Amino acid sequence: MKALVLAGGTGTRLRPLTHSSAKQLVPIANRPVLFHVLRDVADADIKEVGVVVGGTADEIRAAVAADDSVNLDITYIPQGEPLGLAHAVLTARDFLGDDDFVMYLGDNYLRGGITDLVADFRRARPAAQLLLAREDDPAGFGVAELDAAGRVRGLEEKPAAPKGDHVVVGVYVFTPAVHEAVRAIVPSWRGELEITHALQWLIDQGADVRSTTHAGYWKDTGNVADLLDANRVALESVEPLVAGDVDAATELVGRVRIAAGAVVRGSRIVGPVVVGADTVITGCRVGPYTAIAERCHVEDSEIESSIVLPGSSITGVGRIEASLIGRHVEVTPAAPATHRLVLGDHCKVQLSP
Ligand code: G1P
Repeated sequence: MKALVLAGGTGTRLRPLTHSSAKQLVPIANRPVLFHVLRDVADADIKEVGVVVGGTADEIRAAVAADDSVNLDITYIPQGEPLGLAHAVLTARDFLGDDDFVMYLGDNYLRGGITDLVADFRRARPAAQLLLAREDDPAGFGVAELDAAGRVRGLEEKPAAPKGDHVVVGVYVFTPAVHEAVRAIVPSWRGELEITHALQWLIDQGADVRSTTHAGYWKDTGNVADLLDANRVALESVEPLVAGDVDAATELVGRVRIAAGAVVRGSRIVGPVVVGADTVITGCRVGPYTAIAERCHVEDSEIESSIVLPGSSITGVGRIEASLIGRHVEVTPAAPATHRLVLGDHCKVQLSP
């Protein structure tokens, strides 16, 4: 069995971060979402992985090459334009050959991995086995209609009136039967070849399409609120460790991980919190639910429920909450009752009056 990991796409809902960087590389608990995905693939005993890449191919290759936490045999597959999930399968045809494969969207974050899904598929080897989850608000996803035995009877992509609460998680197992299906469909209203339509085509041909319902946590990390939520959940299981230099005037409470090379002075850190290598924190209150990446500088500030990407600095600005701060950002104080802003395209800012 092979894996096809999708790491293309434009990430419009995560602008401005995705103007300059891949959405699959935004870190959750200081590890890119994509690395969590590759870990799940490795844990399912799959070695041969095709990673479908778009405009951010170089950055994805460099990040994966620098990470030695999983040992996979990776082939990069360029997708000229992000024309849909079924288009990614078409693009990867040569790599996939006639093997069964898991397709995993590189911006999906799962707790509990994909081993149950793969085991269910291996037991009966249906044409496709989908991972589903129950959602209170299913309209923004693919929605599956199931029969009593858990077989998929029908699928709709982002329906206005969902026929149930089982939504399609971004992980699918396919036999080579999917190749005929992705060739048979036409683009949807959003101009994409939808994998949901290819699956519906299989069902209409009488193919066996089954499902596994994921019991654990799951998020499509496509927008800021969901990313912060996934960060919160991932932080809850980080192993506490103080490898950095923490002075006696600092108080660490709960689950706190301070990487080697980080320096913390005169601060109160309330876990769960992770602090990346070579970051310096002085005179701050940090946490809970906060991930500060490598090479940051945080001074005389408070930060809670937030993600800070590498190389940023935050100095003397009071309290920051529920925020996503990109790479090499500088946050500094202005004169009283004054805001001075240099914001890139598509930024979102909330200022207290
Ligand atoms: C895609 C699928 C959808 C699925 C979702 C999960 O949506 O088309 O069926 O529920 O991933 O993340 P997209 O992220 O392309 O809008």
